Amino acid sequence: VPLYFKHAKGARLTDVDGNEYVDFVCGFGPVILGHGHEEVCAAAARGARNVQQTGGQHLAEVELAEAIAGTVPSVETVRFSTTGSEAVHGALRLARAVTAKNLVVKFASHYHGWLDGVFHTIGAMPPGLPDGAGVATGSSADVVVVEWGDETALEELFRRAGKAIAAVIMEPLPCNQGVFYPPDGFLEAARRITAEYGALLVFDEVITGFRIGLGGAQGLFSVTPDITVLAKSMANGFPLSAFGAGHDLMGMVARNEAVHAGTYNGGGSSVAAGLATIEALCRDEGHYERMERLGSRLKAGLESSAKVHGLNLQTRGPGPVFYAWFTDGRMVDSLSDHLKADMALYTRFAELMLDEGVRIIPAGRWYLTTAHEDPEIDRALEAADSSLARLSG
Ligand SMILES: Cc1ncc(COP(=O)(O)O)c(C=O)c1O
Repeated sequence: VPLYFKHAKGARLTDVDGNEYVDFVCGFGPVILGHGHEEVCAAAARGARNVQQTGGQHLAEVELAEAIAGTVPSVETVRFSTTGSEAVHGALRLARAVTAKNLVVKFASHYHGWLDGVFHTIGAMPPGLPDGAGVATGSSADVVVVEWGDETALEELFRRAGKAIAAVIMEPLPCNQGVFYPPDGFLEAARRITAEYGALLVFDEVITGFRIGLGGAQGLFSVTPDITVLAKSMANGFPLSAFGAGHDLMGMVARNEAVHAGTYNGGGSSVAAGLATIEALCRDEGHYERMERLGSRLKAGLESSAKVHGLNLQTRGPGPVFYAWFTDGRMVDSLSDHLKADMALYTRFAELMLDEGVRIIPAGRWYLTTAHEDPEIDRALEAADSSLARLSG
């Protein structure tokens, strides 16, 4: 439904016709403190007035870099970009430069942005094919796709081709085609195998960074990658991303041997928004507990309401970002289960929810913000109850 919005505040949106919606799309993930967060907006305005674009460094970048290094375990030094796709590109360029190898291993269903080098096997495409028209065919030769969680396949691949592999990139908590926790020990295995063969482990925490906790997925799972990519929740919706690692690894970028460029990198308003967002998140770690509690309430309410109406709705993932599917009752634990779920029914559910004043992503992912409170969850559960009744009727 091509909605046009005229106002967004906290957890609520208003469209051009004056209809109000409780929002669970949250800008597809970046909005973590709620829309129009006063402190972040004021900081961004000050940042724009103070140092917006000089083509040089400015102090706020250092403060933001220190704030990130203080919270994300793998990061000592960062480079700022504007989008997640660019920061992934920077991370992989760095990995290839440092290892002097070319191949990148990614996992089926993991999304790392829309650039050619990683736009492979995100949905139902067989391994080795790009996910849409117009992607450079040559880019497929630089990527090897492995099933998520398949330690044996990863180990076997390294045994065969380890000499050529520069990096393994993953969403450590995959969120794009279903939210799926890694199988027990898999992140540790990826850490061990990459280290053994001299490849770098890259965690794409574009969604999970600052969303599921201050330390992101690496904080949650206590596995430390070589390079981390951050974006979305680090600046509450302002265009800001980063890739970071230890001082030694980042040296090649600092010395301009591995080039990372971008006219708008480190723009004053985005950097100020990032700093204000991280400060607000750090000030009250209770934010994450609250999102977890509200998300749990929401997930349980959706599942039980569906049951009452004779439907099978399953949810997976932590409170601040989770996924929901209609299934035939089987558990959804993998990409192939995800692809078997009833997407047409879910799309209809999302349309009915919109009618009821609740905006959700038709693909199945839900995001919460620190601005969501019990009344927003109540409202979503009431809307779900009547939407599910209409769906089953
Ligand atoms: C895990 C992950 N990596 C990278 C990206 C690309 O980020 P952007 O859309 O800012 O280019 C996304 C976007 O959704 C993402 O979810």
